[in-house]
Amino acid sequence: MKGITLGSKEKPLEIIFQEQGSLSLLSRKGPLEFLKQEVAEGMGFFIYPAEDDETFEFFYLLEGEIQYEEDHDVRVLREHDYFSVYKFEGTVIFKVLKRATFLWCTNNPIFYQISKDIQELLGIAKEIENKDKYTFNHSRRVQDMSMKIARKLDLRKGQLHNIFLASGLHDIGKVNIPSEILTKPGKLTKEEFDIIKKHPQDGADMVEPTYYEDIYDIILQHHERLDGSGYPIGLKGNAIEIEAQIIGVADTFDAMTNDRAYRKAFTAQYAYEEIMSLTDIHFDSIVTKAFEQVLLEEELVIPVKPPKKDEETT
Ligand SMILES: [Fe+2]
Ligand SMILES: [Fe+2]
Repeated sequence: MKGITLGSKEKPLEIIFQEQGSLSLLSRKGPLEFLKQEVAEGMGFFIYPAEDDETFEFFYLLEGEIQYEEDHDVRVLREHDYFSVYKFEGTVIFKVLKRATFLWCTNNPIFYQISKDIQELLGIAKEIENKDKYTFNHSRRVQDMSMKIARKLDLRKGQLHNIFLASGLHDIGKVNIPSEILTKPGKLTKEEFDIIKKHPQDGADMVEPTYYEDIYDIILQHHERLDGSGYPIGLKGNAIEIEAQIIGVADTFDAMTNDRAYRKAFTAQYAYEEIMSLTDIHFDSIVTKAFEQVLLEEELVIPVKPPKKDEETT
């Protein structure tokens, strides 16, 4: 039935086996993750402060026994005991007295860091960039800029996380493009450009089978433009997700400010002016305004004169 997802203990979304036990991802939505962790007897684990103030975590002991120790306070938690962590300072050590299994709920996604599926895709992104000196570290820079723009906007935590991952993976579909085309010094033929145009769809298809299928549209749409001149579909206006728009601006800026096989890099000022002039044509003004704010704060550019408005008459 629509809206309900059943799971079984044999088939978590993904399971990772580690030296001290295993970690399974049971479910996720937006920034929320529901994990099941098994830790072998005699092992320990730590709880330490989260990077972000909003992080809330809840642990429910399904079986086993763990010992909690903080200063001189020592307690034992058993089956059905639980604890939560919010704005936590310091570090707490838990010792596993009897093989423990617990349910772990967090609003600060962590599983992608160990997920084989996601790490494999990030590896593909790296490999593509390493083949071409002109795109070396491209995804990383696009990711940094996308996150800076995104943080200026009023987005939900889940959207920010999706932008983070999608920007790192936005060009993985390029794995199917022959390197002669990717690194061609001259102008591309129509046939060659048609091959390039397939990479957003191919990239989206690569994330679809993973548990991050909700970044499918972001990757698919990162070359779509407001006026319908983008590819692969030619979507228009707000049919393009804001997350894809943000990556589109960051991607364009990075492509323009780095050397290419067929041209030298443009200055940040030139790229900025070019992108701002495409406001409401290629890119949403909400996104270009945030992008401009980032560049001005970092003193990378001097502001362009605001376009003449129809002056308010008093
Ligand atoms: Fe791309
Ligand atoms: Fe790109």
